[in-house]
Amino acid sequence: MKRSSIDGEQDGNSRIARFPLGGSGSGSGGVEAAGVLDSRILPDQEFMAQWDAVIVETSQKDRLLSQAILNFTLREKVNRSNLPLHGLIVLHGPPGTGKTSLARGLASRTAEAISKLGQFRYIEVEPHALTGAALGKSQRAVRDLLGQTVAEQAERGPLIVLLDEVETLAADRGRMSMDANPIDVHRATDAVLAQLDQLAAKYPHLLFIATSNFTRAVDGAFLSRADLIENIGMPGPEACRAILQSAIEELARAFPTTGRIPQDPEFERAAKHCVGLDGRRIRKLVISACALNKQTAIDPNRLTAADVLEAAIQAQEESKSVQE
Ligand SMILES: Nc1ncnc2c1ncn2[C@@H]1O[C@H](COP(=O)(O)OP(=O)(O)OP(=O)(O)O)[C@@H](O)[C@H]1O
Ligand SMILES: [Mg+2]
Repeated sequence: MKRSSIDGEQDGNSRIARFPLGGSGSGSGGVEAAGVLDSRILPDQEFMAQWDAVIVETSQKDRLLSQAILNFTLREKVNRSNLPLHGLIVLHGPPGTGKTSLARGLASRTAEAISKLGQFRYIEVEPHALTGAALGKSQRAVRDLLGQTVAEQAERGPLIVLLDEVETLAADRGRMSMDANPIDVHRATDAVLAQLDQLAAKYPHLLFIATSNFTRAVDGAFLSRADLIENIGMPGPEACRAILQSAIEELARAFPTTGRIPQDPEFERAAKHCVGLDGRRIRKLVISACALNKQTAIDPNRLTAADVLEAAIQAQEESKSVQE
């Protein structure tokens, strides 16, 4: 993904509508946008596709969407002291289970569902860019990003902010040893919490979606502010099969002969071997299957269900050896 935007910039994908982050002193390094990985206008077709691609229980997608919508319909109308909505949804779970895709898709679906509030904007924060700074800089970087960049955008209208891999930004102060983790990180977490509270109080049309694959590393006070904490788990047998099929269907759009693979009995065996793998692994094993021999790599139309089965068995073995 590209770094944040300049007005009208295109991305090789004309559907991506980007917006300028404004503020002073852009020019050379885009200083005012430090820590912003992506920004766009919602709804966004690419994000919609990411939402659709992730196969989880429909009830889980519904729950996420309802909570996100509620943030925009309810928050401005209720007293925070009695109904404390913070405008924060947390998605956590193992790596490769679709958290980031769901978060982006959720942003887009929410904007689509509540069009009456006007144009929604989206910002994706890259926490590593903030906390990787030299000692003493993180706190300031967080304050600048949330207190200025995010606040400026929230002034303009409804805004959804993705805090991806939030454990970097809101690290659990309780679990950290002072020796191993610079005090700077503690301060950055404090700064995040203070800013979240201020932003939540001031902007009812602002929603943060945070992801983490290591929830225990996320600060307790941050998690306690979440309006919904949703666990995105490993796919079950049905989902594994559907993910494998979807990956093959994608291949078949370019190499049509491979479209027959899901009808082959070997495909069912391959799908069974996918149980225990995450969604990313399952999609990738179709690529590995194409790489099993050079002829298939030259012409992926030659891919067979037996290749997919072999790649699934290999992926399963690799995943077991990593866990041991
Ligand atoms: N349940 C799923 N159904 C279909 N595809 C999935 C599923 N889970 C993951 N994927 C696919 O795996 C890829 C990675 O997804 P994504 O980056 O959203 O995962 P993540 O949970 O954010 O991973 P990480 O924790 O490593 O950041 C995407 O191509 C996504 O479509
Ligand atoms: Mg992710």
